[in-house]
Amino acid sequence: MTKDWIETQIKKFLKKNKITSSVEITHPENLEFGDYTTNIALQISRILKENPINIAKKIVESIPKNKEIKEINIIKPGFINFYLHDDVLYENLLKVIVKKEKYGTFDEGRGKIAIVDYSSPNIAKRFNIGHLRSTIIGQSIYNLYKYLGWKVIGDNHLGDWGTQFGKMIVAIEKWADKPVNQLSVDELEKLYVKFHEEAEKDKSLDELARKKFKNLEEGEYQETKVWKTIVTTSLKNFQKIYNLLNVHINFAYGESFYQDKMDAVIEEIKSKNLAKKSKGALIVEFSDKNMPPGILIKSDGATTYLTRDLATIKFRREKWHPGMIIHEVGIDQTLYFKQVFKICEMLGWTDTKYIHVKHGLIRLKGGKMSTRKGRNIKLEQILEEAVKMAKKINPDKKIAEAVGIGAVKYNDLKRSPSSDYVFNWQEALNLEGNSGPYLQYTYVRTQSVLEKSKDSLSQSKSLNQSLNKDELYLTRMIQQFPNTIKQAGYKFSPNLLTNYLFKLAHQYNLFYQKYPILKSNKDTRKIRLVLTKATGQVIKNGLEILGIKTVSKM
Ligand code: ARG
Repeated sequence: MTKDWIETQIKKFLKKNKITSSVEITHPENLEFGDYTTNIALQISRILKENPINIAKKIVESIPKNKEIKEINIIKPGFINFYLHDDVLYENLLKVIVKKEKYGTFDEGRGKIAIVDYSSPNIAKRFNIGHLRSTIIGQSIYNLYKYLGWKVIGDNHLGDWGTQFGKMIVAIEKWADKPVNQLSVDELEKLYVKFHEEAEKDKSLDELARKKFKNLEEGEYQETKVWKTIVTTSLKNFQKIYNLLNVHINFAYGESFYQDKMDAVIEEIKSKNLAKKSKGALIVEFSDKNMPPGILIKSDGATTYLTRDLATIKFRREKWHPGMIIHEVGIDQTLYFKQVFKICEMLGWTDTKYIHVKHGLIRLKGGKMSTRKGRNIKLEQILEEAVKMAKKINPDKKIAEAVGIGAVKYNDLKRSPSSDYVFNWQEALNLEGNSGPYLQYTYVRTQSVLEKSKDSLSQSKSLNQSLNKDELYLTRMIQQFPNTIKQAGYKFSPNLLTNYLFKLAHQYNLFYQKYPILKSNKDTRKIRLVLTKATGQVIKNGLEILGIKTVSKM
């Protein structure tokens, strides 16, 4: 690749001049400035104490001729820009058409395994907006790493174990007005809220709940039966949402799976002298005093969310030997994951990289969409509403589903995961702005042009004329796709991909409005159809990574 060649030449220059510096070759932000750019001259001007423009000149002089590069120029304050020949660019476009859904894939991840821990709702509670974000963002990160060539494993770390189930069981036994298998998730959540209200007044309830959880841990028949029933009810409810979202997660071991695996991890922590008794509890202390100790076993003997996470990581490491474990979980668990990862480091589990991708809150105009106290707004309602609204764009059920759900997903993915945002229907469904429907619409446009043309583009081998400015810009835009995938993956930021797709679609639409495609002369028509096809393919690949379907009509 020309990009690698450029990098090698610059490295040669650095070596010859005994300079140690990394070299970054990127695509210029501004399409006028060519195909590749580097700020290396600026970077090293401080070391050399020389004017970056002069350095850039020396670098350019040192680069031998290359038949793919048309021009190299230097712009203030010292960037070096590279322009490829039109036929090289055109060949790159043809590659998009040949590679199809493989365009933008890499094999740099080959042989490596990444685990994505995402979605992870809690049993007997509603699937909330936070879990929605985790599902959507987690799935995109999963897909991005697949594109980068990793073997990716998705695991839904269901919240199906812990002392809260003792409380649930007490509440069901005391206040449920129907048999447990008839209680909906909503009703279960209400019972849970009631438990907390009642426990404020009656301290004995907590004691009772502890006993119930202990029974559950010991596998007592009655408690186990209630627990199993509410797990089944909740999973059915979650499945509805996964179906709407068209998400399938490889595994759902859940916290309860680690019941019999916690002793081993506690033993390991003890054997490495990392555990300490404190007021009847077993804890891990950190040298960083800003970090509160992590509790492995509470004074009442119950294990914790933390213990289960450590058991989970141990299990995953032994089973899959992952190079990386990515946890897509709310920003409110930032300190918690710092503790978890620190303990992993203390344990010497350092051949896995641990990542917490944090998501922020979504607010609806007039308040939060989710609170800890169970005042969640119903998620299915939002998704169903989205489909209903999309029916105004196209009444076909399948299309409206793809558009409506796609709009909700895109509207989330276009933000940096950690930012909070206010949910706004107009924005999500806007056919003109940075939205899912806008991209789907642009895709439909490309497909209808191609359909009308009926040209076979397979014999479009050579370019017989030069590209005009807008053709050139669109080509450059398309060419940025693979690198965008890399950046979005490395930075765990699907929003870099949405921003790119939006710019690409915008560039295509400008082009489409400005020039005839089917009515232009033979050679021009060929170029413009190839551009149209490549744009469509890139939009499709990009949307697929975001978990958004393309549609054939809109
Ligand atoms: N169930 C948890 C919650 O809703 C999220 C679990 C995230 N994953 C993890 N390995 N802790 O807050």
